[in-house]
Amino acid sequence: MRLSGHTSLGIGGAVETFFTPGSVAELREDLHWLRQEGVPFRVLGGGTNVACRDGKLPGALISTSRMDRAYHYGRCLRVRAGCQLVPLVRRCCEWGLSGMEPLAGIPGSLGGAVVMNAGGRYGNIGSLIHEVRTLTLEGEERVYPGPADRFTYRRGDFDGEIVTEAVLILTPSQSARVKERTHRILREKVVTQPLSARSAGCVFRNPPGGSAGRLIDACGLKGRRIGGVLVSPVHANFFVNTGEGKFADFMALVKLTGARVREKFGIELELEVKVFR
Ligand code: EPU
Repeated sequence: MRLSGHTSLGIGGAVETFFTPGSVAELREDLHWLRQEGVPFRVLGGGTNVACRDGKLPGALISTSRMDRAYHYGRCLRVRAGCQLVPLVRRCCEWGLSGMEPLAGIPGSLGGAVVMNAGGRYGNIGSLIHEVRTLTLEGEERVYPGPADRFTYRRGDFDGEIVTEAVLILTPSQSARVKERTHRILREKVVTQPLSARSAGCVFRNPPGGSAGRLIDACGLKGRRIGGVLVSPVHANFFVNTGEGKFADFMALVKLTGARVREKFGIELELEVKVFR
């Protein structure tokens, strides 16, 4: 299994041990085995917010991609961690459930979205969440009812646990209206972000009151290329793999852009993308 085929950036080497549990029970068994064997591991959601090293990744990787059920009853939406956001947003349009529109165009899985409090200008997923279920590393299930205060800018605070499921509360509406709002937000993103390019989304977190993309752009770095990775000419906080990009290229570009922003504005940018090395 090569990570380049499982990440939106399209960079990453082999993984020694790869688990794809299909249920919470299977995930618990996998965790038990890993604990017994003393093997360190990481969790991969949709692979859309990670930059992975090219060489062999040490330890094991657990992918939640097969835990992907989603169903709704009334205004409640119960979704497993591995469910993909794009089809989920589309199904909410069909079901006439409003609330998920701000997530239009965001790739990745529900679990990743919860951990990162995914969203944008029109709202974040945290504000819709009624309940989160996790497994601790010891395999114990935790239920967080109404965890709104756990969500801050690009962060859902479930560190050291694996998100397995969430319940979202949406607002019943007309399918056509939900569809229209979803498409409007998507159209805006298509113009301002390189959605179809190979990227890991925004590379840096926005500094308080500012925009990392605007700062990198103001340093004249749009289109700047190192090896096979370039600063997107569309939005400077997206780094695009042109096809032959390497992890070292990506990290060198992170270093360069961070240094330029520091020199010009005295602002220390913080990575939003998770680095697996
Ligand atoms: N801007 C530039 N040059 C650029 C990029 C942006 O001048 O290269 C300017 C824009 O013109 C605008 C301002 O900067 O005036 C803000 O830009 P934008 O509206 O694109 O928002 P952002 O702050 O760059 C944030 C999130 C995005 C989210 C958008 C839209 C972060 C790090 N980024 O970007 O989230 O999609 O708002 O809601 O919070 C992500 O987290 O991966 C992500 C893509």
